[in-house]
Amino acid sequence: MSPEVTAFFDEATNTISYVVRDPKGSACAVVDSVLDFDYASGRTDTRSADAIIGFVREKGYEVQWLLETHVHADHLSAAPYIQQELGGRIGIGDNIRIVQDTFGKVFNEGTEFQRDGSQFDQLFHEGDSVHIGQLRVDVLHTPGHTPACLTYVIGDAAFVGDTLFMPDFGTARCDFPGGSSETLFASIQKILALPDETRIFVGHDYKAPGRDDYAWETTVGEQKALNVHVGSGKSAEDFVKMRDARDATLAMPKLIIPSLQVNMRAGQMPPADEQGNVYLKVPVNKL
Ligand SMILES: [Fe+2]
Repeated sequence: MSPEVTAFFDEATNTISYVVRDPKGSACAVVDSVLDFDYASGRTDTRSADAIIGFVREKGYEVQWLLETHVHADHLSAAPYIQQELGGRIGIGDNIRIVQDTFGKVFNEGTEFQRDGSQFDQLFHEGDSVHIGQLRVDVLHTPGHTPACLTYVIGDAAFVGDTLFMPDFGTARCDFPGGSSETLFASIQKILALPDETRIFVGHDYKAPGRDDYAWETTVGEQKALNVHVGSGKSAEDFVKMRDARDATLAMPKLIIPSLQVNMRAGQMPPADEQGNVYLKVPVNKL
């Protein structure tokens, strides 16, 4: 089965969100949505999410799932906002508990912050499968970028989040707490073991030297042949050396501090004070 995939590109965070529909009906899922956030003013905006909501309403689709590939560090998830407007269940990998434990400490969250993943509607385990209408979704645990990263294999399409990027850009960084380049290499081998014609939809695109347009769709076959970090049979050892050296040069994503606090709560803001005010923390010299 080949799902109908519609991409929504957010230029501010280079994120691609997807609406994935069962071609035999109206059921769909939304993968990795974006809540716009202007850090300088502390203001949120729903422009990006509203584009998805408008599309789903216009087509008459029914949202069954809001799938997160991982706890994103570069944008806030709009899953709860889209859920409020359109319904659906919010799912993420069961290793979210590790991520909540790590960042619960970094942000000195009190005991009211549960680290058991209970903020999400469903925690997926390796090998789980669920349905979007009649379309089967198979869950692959693909950690490395973060401990909770998942790949959703939906019919002939794989939503790989931040594991593989476009072949000319390579792979995702592995230097966030709990990340591991060795683990990512092993996870990528699982994705590359899918049939060559499998369509791969990546979570981000930053263009690449010599490429003028954004792109987000490729195939397993193309990744195996051409991926600049892992293609044409590159060894785990070479990959780890390259990835770790490159990660040491990368700045933190602009929105990492607000993103982690919100996304580890399934896209909810921290609890409001008695007056209804909401605050995010900035941990000093912690990240
Ligand atoms: Fe990410």
